[in-house]
Amino acid sequence: MRTPFIAGNWKMHTKLDEAINLTEGIKNGLKGLEGKPARPDDVGRSGREVALCPPYVYLSAVQEALKGSPIRVGAQNGYFQPQGAFTGEVSFEMLKDIGCAYVIIGHSERRQIFKEDNDIINKKIKAALAAGLKPIFCVGELLEERQDNTTERVIRQQVEAGLDEIAPDNFQNIIVAYEPVWAIGTGKNATSEQAQEVHLFIRKLLAHLSSEVIAKEIRIIYGGSVKPDNIELLAVQEDIDGALVGGASLTAESFIKIVNGVKKG
Ligand code: PGA
Repeated sequence: MRTPFIAGNWKMHTKLDEAINLTEGIKNGLKGLEGKPARPDDVGRSGREVALCPPYVYLSAVQEALKGSPIRVGAQNGYFQPQGAFTGEVSFEMLKDIGCAYVIIGHSERRQIFKEDNDIINKKIKAALAAGLKPIFCVGELLEERQDNTTERVIRQQVEAGLDEIAPDNFQNIIVAYEPVWAIGTGKNATSEQAQEVHLFIRKLLAHLSSEVIAKEIRIIYGGSVKPDNIELLAVQEDIDGALVGGASLTAESFIKIVNGVKKG
């Protein structure tokens, strides 16, 4: 059984006081996330993993504000070298050291704006795993690629290259996020059928790279204009195991609704 996973990607947003207020609002609103379900069918408020991914500089403050809550922190990026003369970079070891549990790798904004290619992303995933972090590995096609019917080819390349030389035993520590680029920040989410189709394709690909048994355990989450009013339809799909939420994770109210909208578990 895959535990649903929901992460808020705050991107380059918030000031310190806003980050703390947002964290406290989410923490209070999701009380009850911890512990076993009260009834066997009560999976709405428990049996889910939740992470907040603020900008680097607020990671420790957010972590501090989350004390006593099962919600964990994740970073939005990291560098694959453990240490050294890499001005401006932050290593996965450092992120682990301050208590991060997750790190987003290969987000389309990193791929497009910062020109990260599949090779760098592969190095980052390996280094993050070696440091003991769980990578949230993002893949997704551009609008032109979807229109040209090359979605599966692009996703296959991204998944195969991103996971190159990673032992299948380690796959269960990776969360794959399918984020069609045309759906990010545009208000145009993929339909639940479109998303399910690609999630199933990714799961088959993962089975091919590892085994059916391993692929069944890997969380594949959806990202791209996830909102309180579309999460339920997405989350009931067989191969959609949660969400990576951008814009709607910046207010406690909408993020809490999204977490509560993920009813599988
Ligand atoms: P969005 O962003 O929810 O604002 O579309 C998702 C993401 O970039 O991870």
